[in-house]
Amino acid sequence: FSLKHYNTFGVVAFARQFVEIHTEEELAFLFSRDIVRQPILVLGGGSNMLFTKDFEGLVIKMNIQGISHVISETTATVVAGAGVVWNDLVSYCVDRQFSGLENMALIPGTVGAAPVQNIGAYGVELKDVFVSCRAFDTLRRKISTFDKTACKFSYRESIFKNEEKGRYIITSVTLQLPLKPTINTSYGAINAELSARNITQPTIKDIAEVVSAIRTDKLPDPSTIGNAGSFFKNPIVSVQYLKQLQSTLPDTNFVYYPVDEGRVKMGAGWLIEQCGWKGKKVGDAGTWKNQALVLVNHKNASGTEVYNLSEQIIQDVKERFGITLEREVNII
Ligand code: EPU
Repeated sequence: FSLKHYNTFGVVAFARQFVEIHTEEELAFLFSRDIVRQPILVLGGGSNMLFTKDFEGLVIKMNIQGISHVISETTATVVAGAGVVWNDLVSYCVDRQFSGLENMALIPGTVGAAPVQNIGAYGVELKDVFVSCRAFDTLRRKISTFDKTACKFSYRESIFKNEEKGRYIITSVTLQLPLKPTINTSYGAINAELSARNITQPTIKDIAEVVSAIRTDKLPDPSTIGNAGSFFKNPIVSVQYLKQLQSTLPDTNFVYYPVDEGRVKMGAGWLIEQCGWKGKKVGDAGTWKNQALVLVNHKNASGTEVYNLSEQIIQDVKERFGITLEREVNII
């Protein structure tokens, strides 16, 4: 089964078997059959994955649809199926004045994948609005519910990527969103774009539009140029280490954000650009001209070519800054 159209990098890879799931019952039925006695790979939008070889097993494409909500005095509780396209959920909420998702407009991928790496953008993370998720436990073969604490969220991390990697398949997500808009313009780029549009009192719709415009401008559209968004995480280093760097490279304007008293998050895109990699091509693999953190497949790059490029980038950043970049994208 060809996975070319099931990964946003658009690389060529095949799976031994492929099944699409529309309900929790189908999932339970699937796991009662022998077909699951092989390696399993769960796919959402395929927007955070790089295939460097064929998958010798069963790919389960999650396509559980449906969005519903219940309104209380101050909040809306929204439930969405794992297969819902994330941005469709954002639009559903923005249209109804449920606030909290607008800064995460246009993040690629599906609702079911969102908790796995605690997606986030422009000052907001999924965990800020997350209540719980339902997930099929492939070991005990039944549905479990995870509240926010149980998910152990942190920057681009959750229990589903770490301790419990591979065990649970998320089937739906429940969010709680305030009805009174809480506008978050903590991110400089949002403010700049709002000013450019002469908007002084932004609505959540304005924020969603501005965020979408910034993303469209800066990030390549996977339907024309294969990519999986940020390829690496922004590395977290100690303030002490940053000071050391600043004293050895006094003329350099480092890009970083405070994390807590002792740590900062370095701009990985900036580090990569400093090493001369922005907009570079190696065969059909490359980094994006407007955002060096995004690796791209210009046309016919293989997963291995993209992976090799990422290795070269890691090496260069390590050599120059002594910082080891960690991949954010899953390598298969
Ligand atoms: N920068 C450069 N050169 C570059 C890219 C960035 O100097 O080639 C500098 C920018 O000028 C800016 C800073 O680095 O000062 C940060 O860049 P940007 O605002 O583009 O954000 P980011 O830190 O690179 C993160 C997320 C994105 C998210 C944006 C906006 C990660 C790994 N990435 O990128 O998420 O959209 O912030 O909030 O945390 C994703 O995870 O796939 C993703 C796209």
